[in-house]
Amino acid sequence: MKGLTPLRIGQQVARYPIVQGGMGVRISGARLAAAVANAGGIGIISTAGLGLNSPYFDPQRPGKDPQTAFFAANRLALIDELRLARTLSPTGVIGINSMVATRDHETMVRTAAAAGVNLVIAGAGLPLRLPEYTADHPEVALVPIVSSVRAAQLICRKWERQYQRLPDAIVVESPRYAGGHLGARESEVMDPALSAEQVIPALVAYLREEVGADIPVIAAGGVWDRADLEAMLALGARGVQLGTRFITTHECDAAPAYKEFHRQASPEDVVLVPSPVGLPGRALRNPFAEKAIQGVLRPQGGCFNCLHSCKWRDSRETYCILQALDRASRGDVVNGLIFSGANAGRAKEIQSVAAIIQELTQEPPQALTPVGV
Ligand SMILES: Cc1cc2nc3c(=O)[nH]c(=O)nc-3n(C[C@H](O)[C@H](O)[C@H](O)COP(=O)(O)O)c2cc1C
Repeated sequence: MKGLTPLRIGQQVARYPIVQGGMGVRISGARLAAAVANAGGIGIISTAGLGLNSPYFDPQRPGKDPQTAFFAANRLALIDELRLARTLSPTGVIGINSMVATRDHETMVRTAAAAGVNLVIAGAGLPLRLPEYTADHPEVALVPIVSSVRAAQLICRKWERQYQRLPDAIVVESPRYAGGHLGARESEVMDPALSAEQVIPALVAYLREEVGADIPVIAAGGVWDRADLEAMLALGARGVQLGTRFITTHECDAAPAYKEFHRQASPEDVVLVPSPVGLPGRALRNPFAEKAIQGVLRPQGGCFNCLHSCKWRDSRETYCILQALDRASRGDVVNGLIFSGANAGRAKEIQSVAAIIQELTQEPPQALTPVGV
């Protein structure tokens, strides 16, 4: 087994090929992102709903126009998070994850680029106009998230044609294992056509042979230990993105009760829940998830019109996902939505980020079973 190679994404170079996945709402903020960056990985702040739990917004008294107040708070809170991350990690690689599905996606990307972020990871929709938003900051690396080669093709063609630019890396997220919103319908989640084993080699071949560019592919979903990482590298990935593993860390930005709920979870607790965006999300079973699955949640709280497409806003179906994720992150593990990857149950303790990165980057004593086998 060879040592790990540093991960170059555009002009950014991380010592280890490890990206911490953006996790909203406020699961991956400045503290987690900076800790990962300091340990040699790439730290990612999720921009989703940052304003809700910030000094810029009082949910009890949102003012005359709650939507405007919410979006303004999001932007100011993002600037704060980026400043804090840079203070905590002056030289590390720090990025944001901004979801195309959110109505302030463009604002958040423009704000982060102007604030000096190193890279932007964008999924939950096709980030077809991303290069436009960072045009004044060409040093910012741009990284779309896809679940299929087809989605990567659409992005590469459009970016090349319209912006004469290609992605600096592409994250492939496997709906079979990943936490949070999945880029697949429930019936497709286990489809082998969307597995890392099929998509990663096909995407690597497409990028090399048809696009003719050296674009690193990063595997996301189900990566926990060094054996999982090696399995992804063997498929042709240049790096891995981990979400769930970084939740049970001292530095994770969520409340202690949230991390503890994750630590105590077992694999049987992992469920798919319907979400207002139409596609399922992977989460841990709790009273909220049970009600979401049964479809018996009562509308509560206001609407900030945060998503382009939302069943709760439009027809009062499902629930407000923003507030459900925010409640969870503040420690309400009964009434909040606790996103998690399929690896729940593997965390034995709350660890430091440095310990996890060290474990992942050291040579394992023996080859273990690869992920998905
Ligand atoms: C709690 C949680 C929140 C997440 N939030 C986001 C998000 O806001 N945007 C996004 O693109 N992905 C999000 N994800 C997906 C992660 O960034 C990552 O790609 C995924 O969790 C990788 O799979 P793993 O958890 O098995 O490591 C989230 C995942 C979790 C577990």
